[in-house]
Amino acid sequence: MKVNGTHYRSLWWNAQRDVLEIIDQRWLPHEFRIQPVETLQDFADAIVEMRVRGAPLIGATAAYGMALAMRQDPSDAAMDKAWTFLNETRPTAINLRWALDRCRSHLRPLSPGLRADAALALAHAIADEDVEINRRIGEHGLELIREIAAEKPEGEPVRLLTHCNAGWIATVDWGTATSPMYQAHDAGIPIHVWVDETRPRNQGALTAWELGSHGISHNYITDNAGGHLMQHGLVDLVITGTDRTTRQGDVCNKIGTYLKALAARDNDVPFYVALPSPTIDWTVRDGVAEIPIEERSEKEITHVQGKTASGDVDTVQVTPDGTPGGNPAFDVTPNRLVTGLITERGICEASEAGLARLFPELAQTAQVSQGGTL
Ligand code: MRU
Repeated sequence: MKVNGTHYRSLWWNAQRDVLEIIDQRWLPHEFRIQPVETLQDFADAIVEMRVRGAPLIGATAAYGMALAMRQDPSDAAMDKAWTFLNETRPTAINLRWALDRCRSHLRPLSPGLRADAALALAHAIADEDVEINRRIGEHGLELIREIAAEKPEGEPVRLLTHCNAGWIATVDWGTATSPMYQAHDAGIPIHVWVDETRPRNQGALTAWELGSHGISHNYITDNAGGHLMQHGLVDLVITGTDRTTRQGDVCNKIGTYLKALAARDNDVPFYVALPSPTIDWTVRDGVAEIPIEERSEKEITHVQGKTASGDVDTVQVTPDGTPGGNPAFDVTPNRLVTGLITERGICEASEAGLARLFPELAQTAQVSQGGTL
């Protein structure tokens, strides 16, 4: 999407410098900084420190990390070492393991001399596929927004609520939850987006930055405001992203998503989750019991980053000295609270049957690899 009139992806290969470049998201929305990622340690740091973040972008970044590793040493041992090193960076978003597995199974049969070029080509393909998948998610989600708009008086906006940033900078382009919003806006459907601030790291500010750059009407709201807005009929539709979706359609997303789903159910507001198929973990069924939840630094709770009056980006402490924090970064919304899943192949019920209907080949492969039968 565009930043100050120039189209960007969230990461790209700089062919002249022969290096991957990323937008360092730690500085957004206040500063737009581009950074090269040059060593395997750089790749790991970029993911851990959330210079790149969002499940699909983490996956694409890891694929480029594997490409770098193969340039340095294309042996089986180096491949396995890079797989483990990168896979340990963040535990919850399954796109990371998905991308690393895909790289390894593509590269393993090749002779070492072919691996560096093949790995880079595969990383480019994964990035390009992500863009196309998200564009299609937007097309399907657009139809939901169109249906709601058709029930409203002419010109009245469809009011959406979203949590965290499942926007274009959390993917390679378009975003997942935001793709229907961009496409609705571009189709001339009036929309307004309530953007949850999403403590502790306030990724909602990233969403506000994105939507503002695209000219989409929005308000940045506290995480606790959504239920109140729903009670007063001010939310027509919730769309969030997900870091891992189980085969039965439980969704694991940024902490606080579950509470939004509860409020949506209590107020009969449709709650949809947008996801590319690499975010489905076919090996797990019960999200609450089986998905590892990342526990991040308590400093993300006790401190906040923002822009000072002088325009500098700085961090301040919000708690008394010595107050201990607790920072589970994700939660699981059980499928019973999810109205539907918006995927690149269409919208389905959040259930095993729903996902298997849209992705029969993936559901079957997973069943066989877990000891089931075809
Ligand atoms: O910790 P983050 O910022 O990586 O978490 C991001 C989210 O929770 C997103 O909603 C999710 O990854 C989907 S991104 C399209």
